[in-house]
Amino acid sequence: MEPILKLRNLKVVFPTNFGLIRAVESVDLDIGDRECVALVGESGCGKSVTSQSVMRLIESPPAVTRVDAIEFAGRDIKDYGPKQMQEIRGKEMSMIFQDAMTSLNPVMTVGNQIDEMYRRHQGDSKKAARQKTVRALELIGLPEPTARANSFPHELSGGMRQRVLLAMAFACMPKLIIADEPTTALDVTIQAQVLKTLRGMQRGCGTSLLLVTHDLSVVASIADTVYVMYSGKIVEKAPVKDLFTAPQHPYTVGLMAAVPRLTDEKRKFTQIPGAVPHPARKPSGCYFHPRCDYATAECKKEMPPLVKSGADREVRCFHPLTAGGRQ
Ligand SMILES: Nc1ncnc2c1ncn2[C@@H]1O[C@H](COP(=O)(O)OP(=O)(O)OP(=O)(O)O)[C@@H](O)[C@H]1O
Ligand SMILES: [Mg+2]
Repeated sequence: MEPILKLRNLKVVFPTNFGLIRAVESVDLDIGDRECVALVGESGCGKSVTSQSVMRLIESPPAVTRVDAIEFAGRDIKDYGPKQMQEIRGKEMSMIFQDAMTSLNPVMTVGNQIDEMYRRHQGDSKKAARQKTVRALELIGLPEPTARANSFPHELSGGMRQRVLLAMAFACMPKLIIADEPTTALDVTIQAQVLKTLRGMQRGCGTSLLLVTHDLSVVASIADTVYVMYSGKIVEKAPVKDLFTAPQHPYTVGLMAAVPRLTDEKRKFTQIPGAVPHPARKPSGCYFHPRCDYATAECKKEMPPLVKSGADREVRCFHPLTAGGRQ
C-alpha cells in the first residue's frame, strides 16, 4: 500500500511547573492510501498530541517538538512554515474534533461555514459553493439540506453538528482526515450512525483516515490497522482482526476486557487496575510494569524495544502473548 503519511521518531515535551512532561516519545506512524488507522489508548497517553503534531498544530515553543520526518503525500512537511501549512490544512489534510460546538462558529450558519471551504480552497463563486454545500449535506445524511444550510450550529442536534463537521472535513476531498474522538460526545446509537457515515464517506472519497479514540469498540467497526499507545509510547501495532483475535501486549488485553459487550446483561466491564503514570513521573523500565500481572525484574529495569511480532505486527513487551502462550 502506498503510504500517505510516514511519521518518524516524533518526540514532544512540555516544560511545566511539575517538571518535563514527555507527552510523546519516539513515535513512528504509517498510514497507507485509503487506509483507516486507529490510535488507541487511555486518557493522557498522547493520542491528541501525536495527531495534532502531524498537522503541526502543537505550538513549539512552549512545547519542544523533535521529529525526523513527517512525510505527507510524498514530501516532508516537518519544516513547512505557517503559510505552507495553511495551504495544506483543510485542502489536503483536515481534522474533525470531538466537540462540534467549539469547532463551529456559533454566529455563522453551517452552510456559510461549509461554503467558505469551497470558496477558500477551490475558488468557487458563492453560488457554486452553496450548490456543493447542499450536496455535501445531503451526502452526510442531513435531512432537508437546502433549508438546514441556513441553520446556526445551536439549532442542530449533537449528531447533526458532528455530521456538519464531516461535511466540512471532506469538502475538499483531502488525502488525509484526522478524527480525534469524533463521536465520543454522542449517544451510543447516534455514535454508530455517525461512524457509519464517516466510514462510508472515507471509502467513497478514497481518503485515508487517522482515527483517535480511547474506545476499542469504535475501532473494531472501522479501522484497518490499530496502534495502541501507552504513556507516550506505541506498545502494539497490528491489523485490526489480528489485534482482536490475538492481542499480544498485556495492556491491549486489559483494554479489551474494558470494552462492555452488548450481550453482557449489566454491561459490567472490568478496568485495568492502577492508573496511567503521571506524565512527569514515569516509572523505570516498561511504563506499564506497575499495572502488569506478568512483570519481571527485567521489565522494571529496562524499556522493552518495539519489535516485529508477526505479519504487519509489532509489540513492545518482554513477555508478549503469542499463539503458543506467554513467552
Ligand atoms: N499544552 C500542554 N501543556 C502541558 N501538558 C500537556 C499539554 N497538552 C498535552 N499535555 C499533556 O500531554 C499528555 C498527552 O496528552 P494528550 O492530550 O495527547 O492525551 P490523549 O491521549 O489525547 O488523552 P484524551 O483521551 O484524554 O484526549 C498528557 O499528560 C497531557 O496532560
Ligand atoms: Mg485527546
